[in-house]
Amino acid sequence: MKYIFGNWKMYLGYSESVDLAKDLALQNFDTQKVSLAVFPAAIASKTVADELQNSNFAVGAQDVMWLPSGAYTGAVSAQMFKDIGCRYALVGHSERRHIFEEHSDTVRKKLEASREAGLIPVLCVGETKEDTEQDKRQYRLKKQLMSAFEGLRLNSGSMLIAYEPVWAIGTGDACLPQDAEDIIGWIKQEIVHYSLGNVPVLYGGSVTAQNVLSYTSISDIDGVLVGGVSTKKDEFTSLIRSVNNLYV
Ligand code: 13P
Repeated sequence: MKYIFGNWKMYLGYSESVDLAKDLALQNFDTQKVSLAVFPAAIASKTVADELQNSNFAVGAQDVMWLPSGAYTGAVSAQMFKDIGCRYALVGHSERRHIFEEHSDTVRKKLEASREAGLIPVLCVGETKEDTEQDKRQYRLKKQLMSAFEGLRLNSGSMLIAYEPVWAIGTGDACLPQDAEDIIGWIKQEIVHYSLGNVPVLYGGSVTAQNVLSYTSISDIDGVLVGGVSTKKDEFTSLIRSVNNLYV
């Protein structure tokens, strides 16, 4: 089984999100072969969750506030997303880390809050182009993993990791499948130290219907986190269908 998650980022407004959710709700995939979820903008998450309630797709939050409620202008808590039917939460997406200057301690709080609220966090990690040029790829990933997991309170619930190299996001310059395999294999070894149990690791960054199988055919790569392509009904459904038709 492979995970195929679609991060709609801030690409789709409310009506476009609801329309896409309605289209996806009509699709039929084999959930033994693909585990599907979409991450709409916060404003659309309740309606999208309602539309997808009896479908093959779960819904997730793109970002969460770590405290459940209170005087936090502009924020939406993990608990609030859970209450409206979300199953997952992206945590530490590179756009949050870089554009919103989210620090690793904030990422950590969001990870813990998601688990406490009963959401399954998808921790996003990835190195920048400069990291790669300075031969600091593993150093960067090690730091991100350590600050997220070191001494983590082991409450119940699962989690996932998405390896998304920053230079591959939205650029069309996808990571070579062999490199993604090597890094994901390395991440799986690194996290053994934290006794987290089985943590699926996905690849993200310029995944398309054309290249998806080059990732999902690798056994260590447990699925893909798709950005731009997941906002286009035909491309996204054909991406899912090619994986759905291939794996048991
Ligand atoms: P793209 O698929 O648009 O490169 O985005 C990847 C991503 O950031 C998913 O979270």
